[in-house]
Amino acid sequence: MADLLAWYDRTRRRLPWRALPGERADPWAVLVSEIMLQQTTVATVKGRFAEFLHRFPTAAALAAAEMDEVLHAWQGLGYYRRARALKACAEAMVARHGGRVPDELEALLGLPGLGPYTARAVAAIAFERPVVPVDANVARVVGRLIALELPPVRAARRLQEAADTLALAERPGDVAQALMELGALVCLPRAPGCLVCPWRGACAAHASGEPERFPGRADAKPRQERHAVGFLLERPDGAILFRRRPDQGLLAGMMELPSTDWLPEPPDSAEIRAAAPVGGEWQMLPGTVRHLFTHLDLSVRLLRGRIEDAPPEGVWAAPSNLAGLALPTLTVKLLRHGGAWVGKGGKGVR
Ligand code: ADE
Repeated sequence: MADLLAWYDRTRRRLPWRALPGERADPWAVLVSEIMLQQTTVATVKGRFAEFLHRFPTAAALAAAEMDEVLHAWQGLGYYRRARALKACAEAMVARHGGRVPDELEALLGLPGLGPYTARAVAAIAFERPVVPVDANVARVVGRLIALELPPVRAARRLQEAADTLALAERPGDVAQALMELGALVCLPRAPGCLVCPWRGACAAHASGEPERFPGRADAKPRQERHAVGFLLERPDGAILFRRRPDQGLLAGMMELPSTDWLPEPPDSAEIRAAAPVGGEWQMLPGTVRHLFTHLDLSVRLLRGRIEDAPPEGVWAAPSNLAGLALPTLTVKLLRHGGAWVGKGGKGVR
């Protein structure tokens, strides 16, 4: 363990949510960062974190904010369900803990939106509780350390026990982050960097000579294919028609371009006509916009139309005003494809 911590002290990345060596991190900042980092890359979170925290410096500030404002501040981070979960979590912290982040694992686990990984990450990093959060990176590091043969999904308990024993010695917050750092930078899935690994001597997978075989592979489910046609409808003044997604489900409550349903096969002309916001002439743009969600592989073709009079009801927004809407990355990609995106961002979301 001393080897790992010495390596971490030498190589740790400076990240905006991390405390300087020897200092305690702000628990609210740790909690926000861990929720952001669940499904978004470190590079993207790095660019968005400070602004979000500036706008919502405490749980109380987030609890009091409008959901639309929170969704807007979450823009670019993807997986917007987490923004709702974070707000619900902040509201519970205000109601139950005087607006503070509780410092016990049990209380953290009782908050809405905090799963076992995030609750442990906050307990270890913000409060030095002797627990280890196990995400995919940490599972790989620990699974290799003990040369676990089972796939991580089946071996979750075994991995959690093995991981927690690692935090018993000293500096649990740094142990947790050192394990994350080792998994992200050295102990890579296909090409483990054993030559530069501080734990080489202790690692059973390295001793086996075939470290990349461990831990066993998770059986990944293939994404389901979906197809849709979207509609880019412009008014004479250049404004574009949007609609709001339902309050439940994928990208809940966000704005998007009107489209057909997302279907297993490309929609036929009757399905396209039925979904079009107006009749009349539509021009099919060349190419397809592809977007991957956790379970879906979506391909969207885009139809562009113009309306001269009697524009339909809906949310109309000028391209120069799109920054004010909570737009998912898929919608930004479609607007770019249609040449109607003047902003930046929308990249770097996994
Ligand atoms: N991934 C998840 N949590 C992290 C953290 N605290 N630092 C770096 N990468 C992370």
